[in-house]
Amino acid sequence: MSPANSRLHVAVTRRLPKIVEERMRELFDVRLNDDDHRPDREELAEMLRNSDVLVPSLSDRLDSDMLMQAGDRLKLIANYGAGVDHIDLKAAAENGIMVSNTPGVLTEDTADMAMALIIAVTRRLSEGVLAMQSGSWEGWSPTAFLGGRIGGRKLGIVGMGRIGRAIARRATAFGMEIHYHNRTRLRPETEAELRATWWDSLDQMLARMDVISVNVAHSPATFHLLSARRLKLLQPSAVLINTSRGEVIDENALTRMLRAGEIAGAGLDVYEHGHEANPRLRNLPNVVLLPHMGSATVEGRIEMGEKVIVNIQTFAHGHRPPDLVIP
Ligand code: DGY
Repeated sequence: MSPANSRLHVAVTRRLPKIVEERMRELFDVRLNDDDHRPDREELAEMLRNSDVLVPSLSDRLDSDMLMQAGDRLKLIANYGAGVDHIDLKAAAENGIMVSNTPGVLTEDTADMAMALIIAVTRRLSEGVLAMQSGSWEGWSPTAFLGGRIGGRKLGIVGMGRIGRAIARRATAFGMEIHYHNRTRLRPETEAELRATWWDSLDQMLARMDVISVNVAHSPATFHLLSARRLKLLQPSAVLINTSRGEVIDENALTRMLRAGEIAGAGLDVYEHGHEANPRLRNLPNVVLLPHMGSATVEGRIEMGEKVIVNIQTFAHGHRPPDLVIP
């Protein structure tokens, strides 16, 4: 029986927006996670054994040991999210399992959040919020809460993919000067549109920027791309923003430098060890920490669900899912 002739058994590891879950119920024989608990490895393995399609999210680690436990029927991992660094793509391919993701629909929301962090750190928003929440504000003063002017600052974007470019568009509107480092240089017309300067050398760019925004995917090649050595190249007045993956920055080295005042501030939405941010980052006045909420809009999360459904349905009809990830 071809997958299109039967209702596919689809296991979803986390709670999704209601409208997405309802549509999935109509289309598939779906197993949902009503209480949104985080499945442990045993439960994940059981889902892998008994489903045609698994819909995981970034908190489900699908390493090669785990994928070895997949049953013959598992043919597609339709990831709910753009990043697939929690899935061993090679092991999936070796086990005959396709992997798809949800690119494109979280670009603008993530870029908004990166811009929000640039402003929050540079203009000391969290210190202002804290003063008001604690009732410690004693009234306006010429020298209180002085941050830096956003306009005119040099923004260095590490990784000029969709999100990097969306950040560049926003930052240009704020009067920032755009610089970027990317494996491949953008086309001249895109560079001109973004008014962006390309740096072949990441080290040289890092040493000259006021704000750095990290926007590369995590892979073995980008693990600790911002190593202790590279972080030391930053100017003491520089601010570091990360809305991509925590593993790209050596978090211990960054924490040490922030505490020692060797860099001016950081805005982080992601951490090297998942949801466990280095505790020594907490309560630093020059650091804004967010709980990986860059793509957290109702609209974005629904569009991610729609992409997942399109990928599963395309597969069910015997075609290649449009967002297939090639290992
Ligand atoms: C993703 O989809 O990989 C994002 O990091 C979620 O915000």
